[in-house]
Amino acid sequence: MTTAAPHDEVDLLIGKMKTAAAPLREVLRELHTRYAGLDEGKVADYIPELAKADRRCFGITIATTDGQVFEVGDSKQLFTIQSISKPFVYGLALEDHGLEHVLSKVGVEPTGEAFNAIVLDEASNRPFNPMVNAGAIATADLIKGKDFPERVGRLLSMFGKYCGREVYIDNSVFMSERLTGHRNRAIGHLMLNFGMVGEKIEDSLELYFQQCSVLVNCRDLALMGATLASGGINPITKVRAIPQPYVKYLLSIMLSCGMYDYAGEWAYRVGIPSKSGVGGGIVGVIPGHFGIGIFSPPLDAKGNSVRGIRVCQELSERYGLHAFESGFVGPSLVDLTTPVRPGR
Ligand code: DON
Repeated sequence: MTTAAPHDEVDLLIGKMKTAAAPLREVLRELHTRYAGLDEGKVADYIPELAKADRRCFGITIATTDGQVFEVGDSKQLFTIQSISKPFVYGLALEDHGLEHVLSKVGVEPTGEAFNAIVLDEASNRPFNPMVNAGAIATADLIKGKDFPERVGRLLSMFGKYCGREVYIDNSVFMSERLTGHRNRAIGHLMLNFGMVGEKIEDSLELYFQQCSVLVNCRDLALMGATLASGGINPITKVRAIPQPYVKYLLSIMLSCGMYDYAGEWAYRVGIPSKSGVGGGIVGVIPGHFGIGIFSPPLDAKGNSVRGIRVCQELSERYGLHAFESGFVGPSLVDLTTPVRPGR
């Protein structure tokens, strides 16, 4: 009988202790192993700088409302937040102008169209919702500040509260989007033509390109989700990022419009208020429980991370995370965040 070398026994013990300590980490490790090999989708390249992303990158993080963080894979790899910025900037616009004024400028109806579709709600003279580019550009137009640097500073400070750290802009991605952002400029000027945005639309387009170029990692995304799951307070720093009454509006718009022309099927199958970005990120929110952050650059035809979608689907099905399920059974995933004490 071969006896295990001493260090193997130690490794084995550490492994067991880790699993005992945090079964959730083992679940995430298992999902990471399963989907790391899923090599489908295309890295975004319509913003040339984004095409440099490594398609093998893959990270998953869960942050709980009591401040625990479970992460696997490339969870510290920085990438640009892109459209995941939209619900959070929408929250700042609500703080700046209040609900009714913001609703008069940007609707809350899903379009069923792609994120960059040139469609506007001419009946109500506003873009359909703040998750599509038209609505996000109109939302950026609402962000207050005495000048452009102050407006950018307010955005960065807001994101910093959600992430629990100072965040920065990836200038190469910003410049790349600025140089190729013709479609967004067309949308911006079309809205100016209809009086849906102010004269300084070029400034607001720049602000929009800056917000999309903020650097985050999937640990940040999970904390941003956990902040919303905690009613607007960052569960680690205890800093409030948004007034509690506005959180429900962000979660509603994320569920109904966050995944664009996949939003209907997403709400049906996964049922987690979420937002995706062409940088390869997905943020998800389980109100009262935790935030999910996933990073994997290859995207499907609708601009959503392929591995990110599969991980969220599996987590939702396996642990009852669907918004209209957890009300009844409660997400059993929560049990996995509690370390198993020996002898229990
Ligand atoms: O405006 C754009 O096209 C990009 N800055 C953001 C688009 C995006 O992330 C769409 N998400 N899936």
